[in-house]
Amino acid sequence: MALWGGRFSESAKKNVQDFTESISYDRRLYRHDIQGSKAHAAMLGAAGIIPKESAKAICAKLDEIEQMIDRGDFSFSAELEDIHMHIETKLIEMLGDEGARVHTARSRNDQIALDIRLYLRDAIDLVSSHIRELQKSLIRQADANKRTIMPGFTHMQHAQPVVLAHHLLAYVEMLERDLGRLSDARKRINVLPLGSGALAGTTLPIDREFVRKQLNFPAMSRNSMDAVADRDFSCELLSALSIFCMHISRLSEDLILWMSQEFGFMVFSDAFCTGSSLMPQKKNPDIAELSRGKTGRVYGDLVALLTLCKGLPLTYNRDLQEDKEPLFDALDTVEGILSVYPQMIESMKVFPERMKKAASEPGLMATDLAEALVRKGVPFRHAHHKVGELVRYAQDH
Ligand code: ARG
Repeated sequence: MALWGGRFSESAKKNVQDFTESISYDRRLYRHDIQGSKAHAAMLGAAGIIPKESAKAICAKLDEIEQMIDRGDFSFSAELEDIHMHIETKLIEMLGDEGARVHTARSRNDQIALDIRLYLRDAIDLVSSHIRELQKSLIRQADANKRTIMPGFTHMQHAQPVVLAHHLLAYVEMLERDLGRLSDARKRINVLPLGSGALAGTTLPIDREFVRKQLNFPAMSRNSMDAVADRDFSCELLSALSIFCMHISRLSEDLILWMSQEFGFMVFSDAFCTGSSLMPQKKNPDIAELSRGKTGRVYGDLVALLTLCKGLPLTYNRDLQEDKEPLFDALDTVEGILSVYPQMIESMKVFPERMKKAASEPGLMATDLAEALVRKGVPFRHAHHKVGELVRYAQDH
């Protein structure tokens, strides 16, 4: 019988367990679940809600459970639904009555909200450090190409000459804004929801300030109903990741074009390309293509979560269990991209002569010529017109 089985006369059937379980994907929260439970148990002990010795024993056993899971020495089953139930069941198995005190003044509703927040706080720090690595790779390439002249484009037409560094550093700016969005989302993730109970708090004299300090949250939620229903912070993170992927996709598009035979501006080293099973000559920019492709998947994750939340009345509804897969999928996808992209950028071999040749068509200097006339006192609109006429004359003759 499940831990909540008191009012039930029969256990859930196997197919019902399989349908309702989340352990197959929320097991990755185990470290954060244990981190939260330890802080909660310590608080219960300090506040005199459970005996101090029980709190101590609970924390010690939770450490052991964490090591068991680390070692792969822990069995998971759909019968125990989710990560919370697995750990609590194990604790009770190891400690008996003392373990049965850990869920005092807590619901899985505030527990899962806490776990996700703890998990995302770490995940954001990791993604952000990897985005910094990508910025560094782009800056290194820019540094090596401060004098590599190439055509700048608008409408995919030659516009004005630029240097490759200028183009690459544009992406460094985009990534800087992505980092800003992530750190902004982190502020609203970094709020303690525990203490909200199922939705209405608890009659027991808990000490939320103790838990807040213990878990290093700068703030705590103020409305328990909001705290168990809220997934805005996940939506915000997925929005930030979607915009990040949009940037990666645009960069990929540039690089794929540049590596085409038509442009011939650069190639990635062999280690970052793949071949064709049929055409022996092929060398394809698959990492860039896949990154562009995976962007759609991350957008899908964002839309899945927004759609999941849009029709939910307050407060917790089981629908919310479906928040995790899109969240994890987006994080995994972004981490996957970032695990190869910086090295791929470093592996770029640029062909400055090709770039320069493409930029050397005189039309690209038309704006400079108009501005030279402006310096001689000609009103810009007249200068523009004159140079336009000159371009047409040159084309006709
Ligand atoms: N596995 C659940 C989830 O991820 C935990 C909360 C379950 N709460 C409940 N009342 N059934 O949302």
